[in-house]
Amino acid sequence: MREIQSVVSEQETICAEVKTPPNGFVVFGASGDLARRKLFASLFALFDRGLLSEQFYLLGAGRKKLSDVTFRQTVQQAVQENINDIPANQLKPFIKKLYYANGDYSDASFYQNIKAKLAELDSKYKVDGSRIFYLAVPPFLYTSIVEQLGSSRLSCPDAPDSQHQPRLVVEKPFGFDLQSATELNNKIHQCFNESQIYRIDHYLGKETVQNILMFRFANTIFEPIWNQNYIDHIQITIAESMGVEHRGSYYDKTGALRDMFQNHMLQMLALATMELPTSFNAQHIRDEKVKLLRSIRPFGIQPQTADIIMGQYGPGVIDGREVVGYRNEPGVEPDSKTETFVAAKLFIDNWRWKDVPFYLRTGKRLARKNTEIAITFKKVPHSMFASSGLNDMPPNVLVLQIQPQEGISLSFQAKRPGSKICMSTLNMNFNYPSVFGVEMPEAYQRLLLDCMVGDQTLFTRQDDVQTTWQLLTPILQIWEHDDTVPHAYPAGAESFPEADNLIVSDGRKWRKI
Ligand code: BG6
Repeated sequence: MREIQSVVSEQETICAEVKTPPNGFVVFGASGDLARRKLFASLFALFDRGLLSEQFYLLGAGRKKLSDVTFRQTVQQAVQENINDIPANQLKPFIKKLYYANGDYSDASFYQNIKAKLAELDSKYKVDGSRIFYLAVPPFLYTSIVEQLGSSRLSCPDAPDSQHQPRLVVEKPFGFDLQSATELNNKIHQCFNESQIYRIDHYLGKETVQNILMFRFANTIFEPIWNQNYIDHIQITIAESMGVEHRGSYYDKTGALRDMFQNHMLQMLALATMELPTSFNAQHIRDEKVKLLRSIRPFGIQPQTADIIMGQYGPGVIDGREVVGYRNEPGVEPDSKTETFVAAKLFIDNWRWKDVPFYLRTGKRLARKNTEIAITFKKVPHSMFASSGLNDMPPNVLVLQIQPQEGISLSFQAKRPGSKICMSTLNMNFNYPSVFGVEMPEAYQRLLLDCMVGDQTLFTRQDDVQTTWQLLTPILQIWEHDDTVPHAYPAGAESFPEADNLIVSDGRKWRKI
């Protein structure tokens, strides 16, 4: 296939970026892994871009005993590990806004300390009570922290206006199945209103995922063909070459269906297939997403049914390097039946998508990292070139490349110069970094910023989370109760026969990862 690099001219650039209002940002789990890997560097990047209010401050809360000084050193290290070449003096103005409180998450006096500290810092930074509580802790701690925030009146759901209502940010996984997600929602709602809750799915903060809406709804040419009349099928792939790294014991209780499919995969599917929202407004967008998720046809309920397949990686080779199988990863049970790969075929029962198959797959330790949404259009209904032997022309394929090669590509047929009839498939590519000349910002920057300005568009709502669990819980129950064993695949593989059958039996094939 020939490649054409597209030339994109930025004729009209419309940008709107809002600076955050003054606020106090409280991170529970401030000495933990997520804060270290993602939050601090993203908050610093926002500060460095001038997007945080001068009246911003951060209070880290955790079990570890740290002074403000040692906490600041830890944060400085974390930022420098994540952002190259940041000199310490550039970090200074940010670092001096950081404070720390330690205590036991289940102890009421910890929250009284936090309350007193916040009052002191509010007065120092002239913040009028506006604050965010970020739960960067393991999920089993969510309810006790939320209950304590409620009983210490730190959650203030009855504050006079939304700016003064504290916001609660909850990381994924949000629940473990429908029942636990519903219970968690109910518990949180005893202390916080839905308008205060920001459930994170970091895929929604990725530029390329946000672009799905712009691409579909800020152009006229795609929407008329974005339906069952023109689209043959859609494939969504989230492939990772990484294994479970240091998260073996968490992952072994979770698996790919809960870790990637219930959230990132279904969110991308919803954005790619939902109806046009009335406006770019949190409620309208979230309404359409949920409507779409509700239209997904429930899976058949036999274990390892033909329409949902699970796999688990064995030992293999990735990038020329030998890697161990999943069961030999630290923290993983030696006879684990946890899936590290899921492939599914599903249908959306509405007018737009009637009978269009969606093939979704996600897995760890696959040949390479690649996330994409590939829309394969129907073939031409009749070939006028049949007499020249060109009967079966490849369909047009539009690929939204989410990562790591962020871009969009469209394949089409074109005449090759020379003989009268000679055709080949060309690929027209647009690549984000080369067109916009910037590195793609970390997804957390967008999400943190939106949360501070009170925009819930990119956060999942209660009904969204429950709808996705409702779809997947029957599958999880069957896998668990019937002791279903995942199919083995070697690390570094593109696919494996059972996953191939899912699509090959329909006369189609997976795209190359
Ligand atoms: C997380 C999952 O939500 O997403 C991880 O828990 C996964 O298992 C990660 O590796 C992938 O994120 P990204 O942004 O690297 O695609």
